[in-house]
Amino acid sequence: MEIIPMTIYTILFLIASLLPLLGKKPFTYYVSKGGYSDAITQSEVFLKINNIISYVWAFIFALAFVLVQIEYSTYSTTNIIISNGVAFLPQILIGVPASIYIPIYIMKQSSSKIKFDSIKDAFSSMPYGLNKDFAKGVDVIIQFKLTGLEEQIKYLIIKNQKCEFKDGLHSNPTVSIKADSKIWLDITNGVLDGANAYINKMYIMEGDASIMLNFDKLFDTSAKKKTIKDRAQDYDYATLVSKKIKNIVVFDGGPRNKKFSKTTLMVDKFIEGAKSAGANVKEYKLSKLDIHECDGCYMCWTKIPGQCVHKDAMTELREEYRSADLVVFASPLYIFNVTGIMKTFMDRLLPIVKPYMLLDEKDGHISHPDRFPELGKQGIVVFSASGFPDIDNNFDGLKGMYRAWSSHSENAFLMGEFFLTAAEMLPQPVYKSRKVLVEKSCFDAGTQVVNEGKIDYKYMADISNPRVDNKTFQNQADNFWLSLDGKKSYLKEMVKL
Ligand SMILES: Cc1cc2nc3c(=O)[nH]c(=O)nc-3n(C[C@H](O)[C@H](O)[C@H](O)COP(=O)(O)O)c2cc1C
Repeated sequence: MEIIPMTIYTILFLIASLLPLLGKKPFTYYVSKGGYSDAITQSEVFLKINNIISYVWAFIFALAFVLVQIEYSTYSTTNIIISNGVAFLPQILIGVPASIYIPIYIMKQSSSKIKFDSIKDAFSSMPYGLNKDFAKGVDVIIQFKLTGLEEQIKYLIIKNQKCEFKDGLHSNPTVSIKADSKIWLDITNGVLDGANAYINKMYIMEGDASIMLNFDKLFDTSAKKKTIKDRAQDYDYATLVSKKIKNIVVFDGGPRNKKFSKTTLMVDKFIEGAKSAGANVKEYKLSKLDIHECDGCYMCWTKIPGQCVHKDAMTELREEYRSADLVVFASPLYIFNVTGIMKTFMDRLLPIVKPYMLLDEKDGHISHPDRFPELGKQGIVVFSASGFPDIDNNFDGLKGMYRAWSSHSENAFLMGEFFLTAAEMLPQPVYKSRKVLVEKSCFDAGTQVVNEGKIDYKYMADISNPRVDNKTFQNQADNFWLSLDGKKSYLKEMVKL
């Protein structure tokens, strides 16, 4: 009686093993083709998956061929039932899971290598290639307006870790992409770099393009999500509860104007928040003022205590500095520190302290006494934008100076540090949501400092997190600078804030 199952298993074994051996498409290919797009089913990866599954089935059928012949019982009916059952077991236990998990595993290793012949093909594959890990929490509508060879007006909805295409125009897409279909196909296939093509104006993006920052990873099932951790808090920022912050003075040491300075962008929002909470604000652009360098003569400590031999803008600025409840120091990061003008300004603040030494008996810390202790405590907040995406080993100098300034002042207390990393990329559409977050964090911090006399660290962490890994940042930054190579002026070419 075993002759029937033995013959069946022999035929099945031959079909499963011979077709891939002879270079023909295995039987599993026709079963698994399902609704996949041509680009996937015609890809080498897809054939490789099916060949492997076919060999697995050949092994299972060979095993079944052996198992069905073993005598399990002396009673023939019982033996037939057991032998067929035992021979069937590997098909369920090995065959079915292998058919499900081998494709998932191999696609993860190689889905990025699939090349599409047409936009139609690429679009129809997207729902299969969505990386669920990256898609977690994503809720966007991407409108495509493709012209040229393959005209397409379609929008992609990514929501609840699923994605689907719809024809036509959406009334309120998150981002709109206008491109030639050939260019978009090249970007999809990795022939063209998306960031490079955008910077070189090969296509247009409108709206919040933040999702495009990780678009390739969103459809690369092998990509692993790396979360860029927030900088850990390494300073005990002061709370000034004893004194209501009413008067704020801003010293901006950057050379750029509001249209381009990312440091000023942060300060403006902080000030907006503080004003909305009732504060009075005075702002000084140091580069526009007459500020002489410190001569190191110490006359401010000896012959004319509290004054300086140079009668320039600093006479007023020192008064404004010391009478404010909160001082904002704003400077872009220049060679790992503040700008030259900001440093000159800081040097010229020397007359506001006395030359004597104050010793804290408890911790042995030494500082200079305040010349105007009757004006009471004041807060300090620092703002700085950098080109590099990192804080450590980049902001150490600037951070160190203001921390030391605070710890060596009798009455000035550091309440917050806002370091905007990878700042030059901020005006690009892919950073729209980062820019919104930066503006909101600064505004809320400004409101909070007036209302509560403190600033939550989360605002500082939100700003310093560049939200991209260094590899992506490198790609964008390099493309950006390459696009400006040989151009007359950075500021003329630069996207305004
Ligand atoms: C002279 C100079 C030195 C710079 N040094 C650094 C640096 O040490 N580290 C850094 O991350 N970026 C550096 N940058 C980049 C600036 O910090 C970056 O362009 C920032 O956005 C400038 O701030 P702003 O937009 O407020 O002017 C430097 C830029 C210039 C012009």
